[in-house]
Amino acid sequence: MDIGIDKLNFFTSDMYVDMGELAETRKEDPNKYLIGIGQKKQAVIPNSQDSVTLAANAAGKIVDDFERKNIDLILFGTESGVDSSKSAAVYLQGLLKINPQASGVELKQACFGLTAGIQLAMGHIMMNPNSRVLLVGSDIARYGINTPGEPTQGGGAVAMIMSAKPSILKINPGNAHLTKDIMDFWRPLYRKEALVDGKYSSREFIDFFDQTFNEYKERENLSTSDFDALIFHLPYTKMGLKALRIGLQGESKEVQQRLFDQFDASKQLNAEVGNLYTGSLYLSLISLLKKGKLKDNDLIGLFSYGSGAEGEFFTANTVPGFKSVLENLDISWLDNRRQVTVSEYEDIYKASLEFTDRNFLTGFKQDKSEFKFMGQTNQQRMYK
Ligand code: CAA
Repeated sequence: MDIGIDKLNFFTSDMYVDMGELAETRKEDPNKYLIGIGQKKQAVIPNSQDSVTLAANAAGKIVDDFERKNIDLILFGTESGVDSSKSAAVYLQGLLKINPQASGVELKQACFGLTAGIQLAMGHIMMNPNSRVLLVGSDIARYGINTPGEPTQGGGAVAMIMSAKPSILKINPGNAHLTKDIMDFWRPLYRKEALVDGKYSSREFIDFFDQTFNEYKERENLSTSDFDALIFHLPYTKMGLKALRIGLQGESKEVQQRLFDQFDASKQLNAEVGNLYTGSLYLSLISLLKKGKLKDNDLIGLFSYGSGAEGEFFTANTVPGFKSVLENLDISWLDNRRQVTVSEYEDIYKASLEFTDRNFLTGFKQDKSEFKFMGQTNQQRMYK
């Protein structure tokens, strides 16, 4: 049975800060951010968006009445959860009016959460061939103003529906997985900003890729030249480039050129948005599907990394006719976002609300998104 991605969409806020301007304000050479880190723009997320509303805004476009009736499982990957007990999947079920027979849970392992969901959905659909599973990866990446991590912030959500007989991507069974208990990046419960050992995390990312990629090729009897594209979790686009360079060592010029060109297409959207944590690999997938040179049945290698740390390499093939299906996936709105100044971005950053037991309202009246976080009354979150 073929199982994979049948529908796909992405959402981020309608505001961004320009990375050249941010670098100049921080007294850095703009090329450090633009080339050295590889980011052009960074999404600025207002306090009227949280991981639930980002996910609802992404999923709302692919959940129609048919899906509302037929989705039987909601898997919500996030490391920006809004409640230690109630899962974001249940908020999402309510906001999108998905039938109450569907079950839903939140999955956490840093940026790996959505990939974990994909593997769970594979097994679930195998056992229930008529199943339609809604998966989201939704996060806000925050490190702090004027920290080394600042140029690798961002936020947004990717939503997908997985089923048997998918129309976009067939996910192949099997993977190479690695888990190691390390402290490269983490966020204790009392913090909104991540703590990170940046250089160490980048070295571990490359090592995890190297090990899982080679393990997968050996298990499946594949060579690097068999791949039509290799894509990565992209905390910043230079990270994926560094890993790809390791993966392509010793390959012919032709293979290197082909895979570097496809990688270039796969990083375009990420360079415009920044880190999405759980959604980053899948934003890169959207970028590749929309901007790369893929044909029917092409083989894509995907590397997922979640600090702390888990890494996984798996593969997927494009489904014949996927290009016409993807015409429904509109990304043109990204060009119409509003640029905010660095000082506006700092104000929006500081207006982000700490967790509190008090009543409060967010700036939801200024937010034009379909789904908004309005604030809190009697310690309950209110959504519109
Ligand atoms: N022109 C061109 N390039 C320049 C430059 C210039 N004028 N000035 C500097 N550069 C280059 C540097 O040479 C360097 O490139 P290489 O890494 O290829 O050597 C790059 O710009 C960055 O410079 P620094 O290493 O000096 O940057 P930094 O120390 O200020 O911080 C960082 C970089 C460690 C990535 C930091 O942004 C960070 O900690 N980010 C958060 C952690 C992170 O994203 N880790 C990734 C792996 S973990 C993960 O993937 C999970 C997740 O989502 C977090």
